[in-house]
Amino acid sequence: MRVVVTGGSGKGGRWVVRALREHGHAVTNVDLRHDGSPHGQCVIADLTDLGQAQDVLAGADAVVHFAAIPAPELRAEGETFRINALSTYNVFAAAVAHRLRRVVWASSETVLGLPFDRPPDFAPIDESITARPESSYALSKLVGETLAGQFARRSGIGFVGLRISNIMEPEDYAAFPSYWDDPTVRKWNLWGYVDARDVAAIQSRLAEMVHEIFVDELNRAGYPLVAEPSHETLRVTVAIVDLFITAPDTMSPERTSTFTADSGRMTLVLELRDSVTGEVLARAADTRTGRRSGPLTVTSRTTNTADARRAIRIWASGLRQALAEMYAPGA
Ligand SMILES: NC(=O)c1ccc[n+]([C@@H]2O[C@H](COP(=O)([O-])OP(=O)(O)OC[C@H]3O[C@@H](n4cnc5c(N)ncnc54)[C@H](O)[C@@H]3O)[C@@H](O)[C@H]2O)c1
Repeated sequence: MRVVVTGGSGKGGRWVVRALREHGHAVTNVDLRHDGSPHGQCVIADLTDLGQAQDVLAGADAVVHFAAIPAPELRAEGETFRINALSTYNVFAAAVAHRLRRVVWASSETVLGLPFDRPPDFAPIDESITARPESSYALSKLVGETLAGQFARRSGIGFVGLRISNIMEPEDYAAFPSYWDDPTVRKWNLWGYVDARDVAAIQSRLAEMVHEIFVDELNRAGYPLVAEPSHETLRVTVAIVDLFITAPDTMSPERTSTFTADSGRMTLVLELRDSVTGEVLARAADTRTGRRSGPLTVTSRTTNTADARRAIRIWASGLRQALAEMYAPGA
């Protein structure tokens, strides 16, 4: 796939560029700063300019939009809002104009009410909490979420917004011991963080798993995967959205076990399209929660992976059954 990553010279974006290239995609990084990659792999552009956004997305299949002023208090309030809201509008509008297949973009956990100077209504929080932006940065991300919903509705293109938590790179862990003496130091985001490598790995492993299981189920029912669309083919688009993973026990000796009621949950959005015209013929969404085995248990990477496989298998076999009913004689 030809993927444009915006902000690919930055902290989170460079891991996305690396992970996508490792999985064989042709990736162009679009950023204000060059990333030092060979000629042709990085384009300098200012995405607050609609014309530049339109140009750089021409010919792409998908965009991962990470370019932004990445936090409050780095620029003047209004400038943060202007750059983030405008560049997000431009990237989304260009993606729709060029009929890209997928838009993935970085929203932020700050829409939930960070820095929580006023405590949240409940904790641990999840996305059912009402958005409460407390900065122009968070407001720009909430505007992005509204734009994404409306562009997706109008175009039928799948938009996946990630409310990313505080991104940590390997070298950031050196500062962790300095947080231990004063628990209030990181109360601003309820002590949350994500590892940049986990973000990239979760995305690519889940995508591989979904592809493998759906292809297997459809093959077994006599629907082979084809390289080129024709009047005989149906385009199946599968997206996992709203992914909520309960942090698994890493089984490392210095850690205490994490007891949880389930492994998390995820929502599948599935679309069937006419492969020639791109017209959406059917769309379905379903949310699954990981196995509940009564009282609290330890979840590990293995149980989490098994739960994910089980949910995806249920969805894939559901599609197989729906297709069988659709093509049944007399249907
Ligand atoms: N770092 C975090 O903890 C965190 C947490 C939640 C969400 N996010 C979001 O994730 C994304 C990536 O964050 P990051 O930490 O990698 O930020 P970063 O600042 O390291 O990278 C952002 C990149 O965007 C580029 N950029 C900014 N304005 C641009 C413009 N107008 N045109 C083109 N490129 C432009 C910058 O040059 C930079 O390389 C951002 O959207 C951010 O809001 C980050």
